[in-house]
This record gives sequence, structure tokens and C-alpha cells, in this order.
Amino acid sequence: MTTASQQKPVLRTDYQQSVASYWNNEKAPVNMRLGEVDGLYHHHYGIGEYDPAVLDAGEDAVIEEMHRLETAQADVLLDHLGAIEATDRLMDGGSGRGGTSFMANQRFGCRVDGVTISEEQVRFANEQARQRGVADRVRFHFKNMLDTGFETGAMRGIWTNETTMYVDLHQLFAEFARLIPLGGRYVCITGCYNDVTGGRSRAVSQIDQHYICNIHPRSEYFKALAANGFVPINVVDLTAATIPYWELRAKSSVASGVEEPFLTAYKEGSFHYLLIAADRI
Ligand SMILES: C[S@@+](CC[C@H](N)C(=O)[O-])C[C@H]1O[C@@H](n2cnc3c(N)ncnc32)[C@H](O)[C@@H]1O
Repeated sequence: MTTASQQKPVLRTDYQQSVASYWNNEKAPVNMRLGEVDGLYHHHYGIGEYDPAVLDAGEDAVIEEMHRLETAQADVLLDHLGAIEATDRLMDGGSGRGGTSFMANQRFGCRVDGVTISEEQVRFANEQARQRGVADRVRFHFKNMLDTGFETGAMRGIWTNETTMYVDLHQLFAEFARLIPLGGRYVCITGCYNDVTGGRSRAVSQIDQHYICNIHPRSEYFKALAANGFVPINVVDLTAATIPYWELRAKSSVASGVEEPFLTAYKEGSFHYLLIAADRI
């Protein structure tokens, strides 16, 4: 017997189709060359100071340094999941090519399920899991994080690493509230625009256009979390910590053209890079 949720297609809207198509075809050097450094493929940004010596040490040194900062970002996200046991199960909402999922499995020894609406990413990440010998513990699924079909209460924790700008937050957190039992943890790293400076700035609109996404205001996160039984335990403004990464990236051979809007938005204060950790109550 199939459940109602299994009968629904993964991609429900033209918008989701276009996001899936973007990620199915995405092979940007800034993602692929950095992933080749050690086999952890990230599609998120970095945090921390870079070593200025890499600027005189050649292209490979710059690539390795950017990759180090992106891995440091995922480490900070995982630091906020709290105590996770090897018997727990975690979900990576919008798992990309799987970098953060593999790091979580390495750190906690637990089972991790990644979901993404890109079939190509699912194929790539499952192949990575096979090569790493962890395919029995880390699995990637062609699923919509708004309606995963996983059983209720199955996940001790869930994170989203730069994926919430693709979805309606109320729908997303309603699904996460279903999946995470009382006392479980949700951690989010995202870019969001600043309610204090008003609506979307020009630079934020340029970022939206570049990635076909819809950056939410900061306030929307807290409204949607509270409405779905999540209480923040930590909120960390990572904006200052991510600026060096963007400055290095702007100087690198893998700059994608979106560097100036990011640097403008962060420096003018219209945009933040935020980590939110929230408990399910
Ligand atoms: C910027 S990438 C981040 C990937 C990954 N979290 C990382 O840090 O490397 C955005 C991801 O969100 C996924 N995504 C977008 N909308 C989604 C949805 N409704 N359900 C599941 N995944 C989605 C995309 O397929 C892509 O994998």
C-alpha cells in the first residue's frame, strides 16, 4: 500500500522544477575544484580568517584555503547539534553533494539521511557514500524536504545548510516538527535580509536572481520556528566571520560573479549570515 505522501510527486511546482534543474546541471568550479581537495563537496560558504600567504602561493593554495573555510563552517553547524549518539538518526535538509552529511557521520558515527530535489546530486552523493564505505549509514534520497515521507519522530536532529531560501519556512518547519521528537534539535545556517534596514536591498535581490532563490527576512525565521514548536537556544551572527571568505573568493580564479553583491549586502548591513539552533518543545 502506498501512503498519500508517496503518491505525490517530489517536484510539485514549476519553481521547484527550475531549482532542481539548476542543481542537476550545476558544475561550478567553485564547488567542484574545492571538493576535489579531499572529497568533501560543499555547496555553502566559508567562515574564519584566511591565511594571506595563500595569495602568493598559487591557485591551488587559494582553493585549499577556501575549502578549509567551508569545512570550518560545517563544523560550526555540527557543533550546535548538541549531544548526538551513534544510535541517533539525523537528516540533512537540502543535502547537495553530501559534504556536511559525511562530516556528521564521521563525527557522531550515526545514521544520516540527506534529501535533495536534485536527482544528479542524489546519484553523486550516494556514489561518494559507496566509495567512503559508509553507504549503510549515510543515504541520500530524491525527496522534497517540505514533505519527506519519513516516519513521524524519526530524526533526533535536522539541519539545513543554506537551503531554506528555496522554500516556505512555515511549511518547512511544520514538516521538521513532525520529524523531530520532543527535545530534538534543529540547526540552520542561512543568509537572511535585515528587517531593520527595510525590504530586500538591491544587492539581496541580485543574490536571489543569481541562485533563483527567495531570501527571507530575519523575522520570518523566528515567527515560523515559534509557530511550529521550536525554541531557539543559540543564535549566532556569522556575518563578520564570512566576509574574509568572500574577499578571498573575489580574488580567486573560481569567482562566480556573485561576490560583489554578497560583500555589498553584508557590509551595508542589509543581509546577515545567521546560525540558529532551536529545540523542539
Ligand atoms: C546551496 S545548496 C546547499 C547544499 C548543502 N546543504 C551544502 O551545504 O553543501 C542548496 C540545496 O538545497 C536543495 N533544495 C532546494 N529546495 C529543496 C527542497 N524543496 N527539498 C529538498 N532539497 C531542496 C538543492 O537541491 C540543493 O541541494
